[in-house]
Amino acid sequence: MIHGHVTAWALALILFIVALILLSNGKTKGAKMVQMILRVLYLIIVATGVGLLFKLTNINAMYILKAVVGLWIIGLFEVILSRVANKRRTSVFWFQFVIAWALVLYLGFVKLPMSIFYPV
Ligand code: HEM
Repeated sequence: MIHGHVTAWALALILFIVALILLSNGKTKGAKMVQMILRVLYLIIVATGVGLLFKLTNINAMYILKAVVGLWIIGLFEVILSRVANKRRTSVFWFQFVIAWALVLYLGFVKLPMSIFYPV
């Protein structure tokens, strides 16, 4: 489950960058297709995330925060891509993107116990 989760968001990050590159080259059709695959990945990220939550015997606030920040990142993927496609300002969202990633990586890899490196 955790491997599926990590694979899904890592792939989503790569496809997000691919979509941005396509948009910056004016290839809107290609970007739309990549974005469709991205949306399937969002479902997998959420499903595996919820699956991990169900494995817990006692959920604490840190897990809820982790899940909320994960959803926040998915929202930012969507907002940034749509604003880039419409040539609108994105700086505020890039700022949030950096904060949210720092937080999610810290919570996921450092704070919370489950790990792809040391399965529990
Ligand atoms: C793009 C969005 C997301 C990213 C980048 C992300 C990132 C991560 C990372 C880095 C880990 C730790 C993996 C490890 O320790 O090997 C993790 C674990 C986890 N994620 Fe996510 N996640 C995202 C979305 C979500 C969502 C939406 C949920 C819940 C609905 C969720 C729930 C969890 C849970 C419960 C764990 C296990 C925590 C632990 O004990 O380490 N994640 N995620």
